[in-house]
Amino acid sequence: MKKILLIGCGHMGNALLVSWIKSNQYSLTVVDPIKYKSLRLKYKRKNNKFIESISELGKFINFDFIVLAVRPSDLINVLKELGKIKIKNQCAIVSVIAGKKIGVFEKKFKNISNFFRIMPNMPALIGQSMNCIVSNKKANILKKKDVSKLFEYSGKTIFLQNENQIDMATAISGSGPGFVFNLIDAFEKAAINLGFKKNIAKTLVLETFKGSINLLDINKMSADKLVNTVATRGGTTEAGLKIMNINKIHKIFKDLARASYKKAKNQGK
Ligand SMILES: NC(=O)c1ccc[n+]([C@@H]2O[C@H](COP(=O)([O-])OP(=O)(O)OC[C@H]3O[C@@H](n4cnc5c(N)ncnc54)[C@H](OP(=O)(O)O)[C@@H]3O)[C@@H](O)[C@H]2O)c1
Repeated sequence: MKKILLIGCGHMGNALLVSWIKSNQYSLTVVDPIKYKSLRLKYKRKNNKFIESISELGKFINFDFIVLAVRPSDLINVLKELGKIKIKNQCAIVSVIAGKKIGVFEKKFKNISNFFRIMPNMPALIGQSMNCIVSNKKANILKKKDVSKLFEYSGKTIFLQNENQIDMATAISGSGPGFVFNLIDAFEKAAINLGFKKNIAKTLVLETFKGSINLLDINKMSADKLVNTVATRGGTTEAGLKIMNINKIHKIFKDLARASYKKAKNQGK
């Protein structure tokens, strides 16, 4: 059984943890300063360990993967703590931290040769994450396969070509669920504003999103072509689409993707 050390078990760490626990393929050690207690109660099994701090790991550790899922601002402390420990050189360092470059880890862990930067997203919680991966140039092909497998338990996993593309993916799939939830919230509130009760508004909007996405997936037509198939000339959809165009929905998405991408780049500095 391969061994994972997960450092940071908040929203993202927990989503990944759930996928690895469900897989039953790994032995897990999880470090989180507060949540370790509730995690211990919830998931305690023979192969899993939940601890409060990195210092409890001892002076020498032997994991196949160290997965870092702390907030970018907490990384300095984590690296300081890990710096006091001898890590076996066949261990892969895997970071899901937005913006933080592989170079940061390479500089810190000189004896290690396999580094991965991953951008997952929150649907990992239900096994439907979009995981984008990039590795350092020297990374071993077998380790790449192992890390890809590690993330396939939480969703679709693809390798990108470079770290700039990971920053771009951060703005699209990493932050994307937030944009989608906001869009759904706006649509639900519009339905309520027309006079629907909250629960009916929610059902109408959710089923419309689900059906539209499934149709896109099955039909293989592009989204802009499908817009035309539902917008009868002079009809009701066209009346609404005109408002989307007046309010420059395409520009809004272009701008929000740029803002999120810029933030990912800045977090790396
Ligand atoms: N959330 C997302 O949708 C998403 C998507 C893609 C990537 N990410 C990346 O994933 C990382 C975590 O994001 P998140 O949303 O999961 O944040 P979060 O909910 O705040 O989780 C971070 C966790 O790390 C813990 N922590 C802090 N210092 C620690 C230490 N020294 N050792 C061990 N654990 C420590 C925190 O504990 P306390 O809260 O008690 O300090 C918290 O439970 C971020 O770097 C983010 O860029 C997040």
